[in-house]
Amino acid sequence: MHDSPLNVAVVGTGYVGLGTAVLLAYFGHQVVGLDVDQEKVETLRRGELPIYEPGLAELMQACGERLRWTTDYREAIPNADVIFICVGTPPLPDGRPDLRFVAQAAQAIARHLNGKFQVVVNKSTVPVGTGDWVARIIEEYAPDYKAGRYGVVSNPEFLREGSALFDSLYPDRLVLGGEDERAVARLLELYAPLIEQHFEAPAHVPRPAGYTRPEVVSTSLSSAEMIKYAANAFLALKISFANEIAGLCERVDADIEEVMRGIGSDQRIGRRFLAAGVGWGGSCFGKDTAALISTGEEYGYAMPILKAAVEVNQRQRQLVIAKLQGHLHRLKGKRVAVLGMAFKPNTDDLRDAPAHDCIARLNSLGATVIAHDPVAMDRARHEWTHLRYSEAASAEDALRGADAAIIMTEWADYQALDWERALRSMRHPLIIDTRNIVKRSPGLGTIEQIGRRLPPPPVPMVGVTA
Ligand SMILES: NC(=O)c1ccc[n+]([C@@H]2O[C@H](COP(=O)([O-])OP(=O)(O)OC[C@H]3O[C@@H](n4cnc5c(N)ncnc54)[C@H](O)[C@@H]3O)[C@@H](O)[C@H]2O)c1
Repeated sequence: MHDSPLNVAVVGTGYVGLGTAVLLAYFGHQVVGLDVDQEKVETLRRGELPIYEPGLAELMQACGERLRWTTDYREAIPNADVIFICVGTPPLPDGRPDLRFVAQAAQAIARHLNGKFQVVVNKSTVPVGTGDWVARIIEEYAPDYKAGRYGVVSNPEFLREGSALFDSLYPDRLVLGGEDERAVARLLELYAPLIEQHFEAPAHVPRPAGYTRPEVVSTSLSSAEMIKYAANAFLALKISFANEIAGLCERVDADIEEVMRGIGSDQRIGRRFLAAGVGWGGSCFGKDTAALISTGEEYGYAMPILKAAVEVNQRQRQLVIAKLQGHLHRLKGKRVAVLGMAFKPNTDDLRDAPAHDCIARLNSLGATVIAHDPVAMDRARHEWTHLRYSEAASAEDALRGADAAIIMTEWADYQALDWERALRSMRHPLIIDTRNIVKRSPGLGTIEQIGRRLPPPPVPMVGVTA
């Protein structure tokens, strides 16, 4: 529990804002989460979560009265010592991020600042210069504006959906960017329990063995803004690199998993984010790589490496259908099971999910689609109304009678499936495993993976006695 709790307002209660609000309340601060989405706020007031994020509901309950929800800026802002901006920054058609919500939030915050020293923190992913722009908005709209009265800090977020709690409680680093020392000092005070790891680890998210504390990276405002984009761009690059090598592995009969294990054990490279598959998806990588490329264009600076990473990712998505056509030729009238809709496991987030493009392409080719996802089907019912597919109650149901199945998301449930039985239940036993989750061939049908051939089933030990 924090020795001197602060009053915090979190503006925007999506994946990032919700996690931030719960985390800070868990540390003992008084937190008000604010959103313009009335329905979301009502859901939160009932103690329910509007998103699927493992473990978050339990932590939210543990916060009790320290956590409140509102749609009213008057209720959240005047009393806050620290105000987080966590609104969305979705991509515009030309790749630049849409900063409309940041502008609206900053103006509304500015109008309700109360004249004491208050710190506005940008947690949304925003292009370099946005912090200065937010400071100008405050200057223009704050009723009692005086130089030095309000501080702006950039504190980018690095959590991964699906493991948001773990990432927030035990981060690798905390980036704090800003020139106003008083403002940065306040954030260090706010985050003291995290930096010192002076909090009781929740039973369901234990502190990992060997973890001590996050590195605090103090930077200028613009470096902090750049760090977030550069980090996501580099991770996207790693995935595209693995996918590019995977394509060559298929041609020369090498195994991408072995190759990546071999290069990843070099500490200069590292093992993580080298999984070949259907390419990246989700709300961040596509948007953030596009934003960085467009910043380059704005400054007359070409970014060929990043552009190539995006191109490889697009090619990878098309590969799924090409592999399917390689076996079935015509997809018209074929029944195709799509296993997994969320862009990755342990989330219901469907933003830029590869499964979306896959279903859309199957629709246009005249295939009948049966889709399944352990948690994202409800959300898809509202967000993917333009797609044609029917829902299956289980993965087994989706597979029964199908001409082919595509594994789009590496849910643990799918990894644990009895694939031999599943293949037997299909009309035509063909699986395109875009996440390489099936580890051994069940000995019947075809399981096609990315960048590797599936190892054959174990040979029975004939004539060997114990
Ligand atoms: N989702 C992630 O995994 C992740 C990780 C790191 C960084 N980010 C970045 O964090 C930001 C937020 O992402 P998200 O996934 O939480 O978005 P989200 O779309 O889930 O949530 C944004 C919320 O802001 C609310 N909002 C919009 N305008 C508002 C306003 N004027 N006042 C109050 N609330 C308003 C929306 O109603 C919505 O609930 C983005 O910039 C994103 O790039 C996201």
